[in-house]
Amino acid sequence: MLQFEIVRNSSPMSEAVRAKAFENLGFGTLFSDHMSVIQWSTDKGWHSARVTARAPFSLDPASSVFHYAQEIFEGMKAYRAADGQIVLFRPEENARRFNTSARRLAMPELPEEDFIAAIEKLIGLDSAWVPGGEGSLYLRPFMFASEAFLGVRPSREYIFCVIASPVGPYFKGGAKPVRIWVSQDYTRAAVGGTGAAKCGGNYAASLLAQAEATTHGCDQVLFLDATERKWIEELGGMNIFFVFKDGSIITPPLGTILPGITRNSIMTLANDSNIAVHERAYSFGELQADLSSDRLVEAFACGTAAVVAGIGELTHGGGSLKIGTGEIGPVTKLLREKLIGIQRKELTDKHGWLRRVPA
Ligand code: PLP
Ligand code: COI
Repeated sequence: MLQFEIVRNSSPMSEAVRAKAFENLGFGTLFSDHMSVIQWSTDKGWHSARVTARAPFSLDPASSVFHYAQEIFEGMKAYRAADGQIVLFRPEENARRFNTSARRLAMPELPEEDFIAAIEKLIGLDSAWVPGGEGSLYLRPFMFASEAFLGVRPSREYIFCVIASPVGPYFKGGAKPVRIWVSQDYTRAAVGGTGAAKCGGNYAASLLAQAEATTHGCDQVLFLDATERKWIEELGGMNIFFVFKDGSIITPPLGTILPGITRNSIMTLANDSNIAVHERAYSFGELQADLSSDRLVEAFACGTAAVVAGIGELTHGGGSLKIGTGEIGPVTKLLREKLIGIQRKELTDKHGWLRRVPA
């Protein structure tokens, strides 16, 4: 296991300034005092693990990440529970998925224990940055190719880093239902591509479709499959679920979508509540028919950043479709409350999802 050198920030943010900033937390604009860094090279493997003051990197302009986008990341949160403890939610799953992404992008894998240590040591120094109440500390582990080389092959040097950002709600409207734009011009992922990996390139490719969503007054973009352009896949940064009149729920199957940890947790929580979950291909055509017949009554998006967000409306080239009453439905609410309840230690963590961060 790697040993981390700890070098404290000599000019951390004052408590008063931080408290002021905490009064109005958005998403991803405020950052904590420190960052974890680990380097990798073909000669040395993983080395130089440290937690230091958060600061810019100095990179050669030929660093291959700038040219060929060899970059992956994760998204996870630390919560301050009602009893004051700081907990992580299923961090082993993030460590595992990070390595799945690393393999797909021809990057070195980071042992899970070092991934988790990098996060826990950062929180150890920045524990005052974990907000209470409904806020959380969003953690962003990422890795990029840093070798200065313009040939197209996997880099021989990488930097792994974790930064932390205290966050409030992802959507500006808070807990209000969100509006989704169905992209019929752009796709996110094809079979054999990188859809199931969490790499920056996937998000770069989604930005134009997301901008189109914003232009249409929507919060997020929904992608259809790249082959037939009919099967619902996922949103730009979240997975999607549909709730039917008979109480069952559907979520699109894995393959070209990101295997969300929230998605997996929601499926388990639904099972616990005797809600039948079907992982099956669901087309946009079926969705339109199910809305017309009132069979489809709720839809929600889920992910670490968004948690569980009710979807009120879908807009596409041909018009807008209201989902159910347009408000957050009871099944969405139930699953959201169960998930948040576990994350805040207000409900029993019977699946052992929480990991307490050493004080
Ligand atoms: N799908 C995409 C494209 C995402 O960016 C995310 C967010 O990480 C998710 C799904 C949800 O994944 P998770 O629940 O692991 O955060
Ligand atoms: C996350 O939920 O952690 C993500 O990475 C999604 C992104 C849209 C912030």
